[in-house]
Amino acid sequence: MKKYHNKSELSHYLDNLRDDGVTIGFVPTMGALHNGHLSLVNTALDENDFIVVSIFVNPTQFDNQEDLVKYPRTLEEDINLLKSVSKDKICVYAPTVEDIYGKDIVSKSFKFDGLEQQMEGAFRAGHFDGVGTIVKRLFEIVEPKKAYFGEKDFQQLQIIKKLVELYNLPVNIVGCPIHRAKDGLAMSSRNTRLTKAHRAEAPFIYKTLQSAKAKFKTNSAQKVTKWVEAQFKKNELLELEYVIIADISTLKPVKRKSSKRLYRVFIAVYAGDIRLIDNIALN
Ligand code: PAF
Repeated sequence: MKKYHNKSELSHYLDNLRDDGVTIGFVPTMGALHNGHLSLVNTALDENDFIVVSIFVNPTQFDNQEDLVKYPRTLEEDINLLKSVSKDKICVYAPTVEDIYGKDIVSKSFKFDGLEQQMEGAFRAGHFDGVGTIVKRLFEIVEPKKAYFGEKDFQQLQIIKKLVELYNLPVNIVGCPIHRAKDGLAMSSRNTRLTKAHRAEAPFIYKTLQSAKAKFKTNSAQKVTKWVEAQFKKNELLELEYVIIADISTLKPVKRKSSKRLYRVFIAVYAGDIRLIDNIALN
C-alpha cells in the first residue's frame, strides 16, 4: 500500500491514475481507525476504482488543547487495518502539519448559512472554521469525485455539503450511517480513551436517544428534551452538555413540529473528560 506524507507526491500519483481513467474516492479521517471508518472505506471502495484515506489530526479544529494532545495517534495500526481491506486499491495520505498549513497553523473563517452556529459550533469555538479549512484543503489536494463522511458528525456532514455548494467544489458528498458497537455506543476514536466504568455506562446515551424518539411521536420537542435532561441528571457517570431536537436542514432547535420537516435528536455528553456525541433520526 502506498503511503504519502507530501501533497505534491500524492497529487502526481493521483494525476497519473486519473489520466488512466481511474475514478478516485476519498475518506478523510483523523486516524485511530475503527469499524465505523472501515464501513466508510468499504462503501468508498464499492463506488470508486481507487480511494485515498487521509490520516491527519487537524490542530485547527480542536478548541481544547488537551484533547488535541491526547487524541490517539496510531498510524502503523491504521495502515495495517487498511491493508487488511485492500492492498492495491487504497493509498494513505498522512501529511505533516507543515505540508497542510506551512508555517501558519490557522484556520480561515467560514459562514455556512448559520449551520456553524448551532450545537457543536456553539459549544466548540472555531471548530467548524478548522473543519472547513482542512476539508477544503484536502479536497483541493486529492480532487476526489466522491468523499465519504459518517452521520455521527451529522452537523459536520451538513456543513461540508454547504461548503461544497458555496465554493462550487467538484465533489459529491456521501453521508454514511452511524456504525455502533453491539451495545449501541456510536463508534468513535475517543471511545478507546474511556475508563472501564465510563465505557460500561456509555450505551445509556443511545438507549436514551431511542426512548426520546419514541416519546417524540406524541410529545413536543421541548417536553422530550426536558425528559432527556432529567435522565442525565440521575446518571452519576455521564454529564450532559446539550440535547437538542433540530430540523435536519437548518439544524435549528424545533419550536413547533411539522409533518413536512425531518428532525433529529443531537446530544453531547461528557464521560469523565471524554466528550461523546451522537444523534438519531426521529422521523
Ligand atoms: O470527522 C473527522 O474525522 C474530521 O473532522 C475530518 C473530517 C477528517 C476533518 O479533520
